[in-house]
Amino acid sequence: FCSYKGTQPARPGAVRHIFSHHAFVHPYESLENNLWGIGHQSGTFSSLYKSRLRRGKEYCLAPYERKIENGKVKKVRIKGERIEGRFAKDFTELVGTEKNVLLFCKNAEHLDLPDRSVDAVVTDPPYLDNVMYSELSDFFYVWMRLALKDRYPEFEPVLTPKEEEIVKAQGRGKDSKSYLKGMTRVFRECHRILKDDGLLIFTFHHKGDEAWAIVLQALLDAGFYISATYPVRSEMKLSVHILNQESIEYDAIIVCRKRIRGASSDWSSIERKIRDTANHLLKELISLNGKATKMEALVIVMGKCLEFYSKAYPDIRDGQERISTEEALRRVRNILQELAEELE
Ligand SMILES: C[S@@+](CC[C@H](N)C(=O)[O-])C[C@H]1O[C@@H](n2cnc3c(N)ncnc32)[C@H](O)[C@@H]1O
Repeated sequence: FCSYKGTQPARPGAVRHIFSHHAFVHPYESLENNLWGIGHQSGTFSSLYKSRLRRGKEYCLAPYERKIENGKVKKVRIKGERIEGRFAKDFTELVGTEKNVLLFCKNAEHLDLPDRSVDAVVTDPPYLDNVMYSELSDFFYVWMRLALKDRYPEFEPVLTPKEEEIVKAQGRGKDSKSYLKGMTRVFRECHRILKDDGLLIFTFHHKGDEAWAIVLQALLDAGFYISATYPVRSEMKLSVHILNQESIEYDAIIVCRKRIRGASSDWSSIERKIRDTANHLLKELISLNGKATKMEALVIVMGKCLEFYSKAYPDIRDGQERISTEEALRRVRNILQELAEELE
């Protein structure tokens, strides 16, 4: 279950695992790796055990931050910090004892948590049609299930849950509408469990503006506004998922709060704010990297547009005309188009 990495002169025989592209890609040449590994090999049990599992565990026992000092990256231990879970069986035990983790393996539309009980929801939702998670998971699940099904009821089904998955997958009868409905139900559940001053924080990126429109709609329908957005570097620059594609190196981190009330706002002032902030952000990006691609500009500017629009939602006017979500997104697309042309 692997393929050649390609013709890198330094490592001509290197192999990579089958899911390096987040998809089933049929290799040109069939190839068999030595599962346990001999010497220096990539993708084998021994190298992954050391480079992923062991390193991860070591980090948990002695976590550190990366700090830049004199242009060099330094690892600085976080004193007294240790990432370890003491599992509670329900919410009462979690808040009333020294237990610190309550773990669920279930549909995020229904969480066994009381209303207004949590300070923050931090999540990483599916990005419309980017990755077919449940289909890819089945590859491993069927093997893991054999060992785990008698101990964990979550592993009883023969395959991973498909019905409840929030994704756009035309072949399975899941379209943009069902993705919107699912995302709205999950955001509503987040709204229910969050305290009134709580934060919903999630990462998002997508090339197409349909995905952004849906996420905005779902947030607004669930009663949130976007209080801040931050572009951050996403997957490793050298990831094959990113390389050689018009892919996005930036994720938007979107921070939301519960909407209390919306005062009436004027579209022209929102547009001015969007343009000012977008220009400022793009200049900053170019001064940091020497360039900004269209895709990067899109993630950064789109995040800001959604932030300003959702803060003013639902009563946004242009003169007498009330600006609907669709109309606002059409106008945002025009602003993006202009900015993209300036970058070219
Ligand atoms: C962007 S991925 C998260 C990846 C994760 N951060 C990681 O690093 O492995 C989105 C996840 O949402 C899951 N998902 C889709 N529908 C869901 C639902 N209704 N309830 C809970 N999770 C769901 C997908 O299976 C996928 O694992």
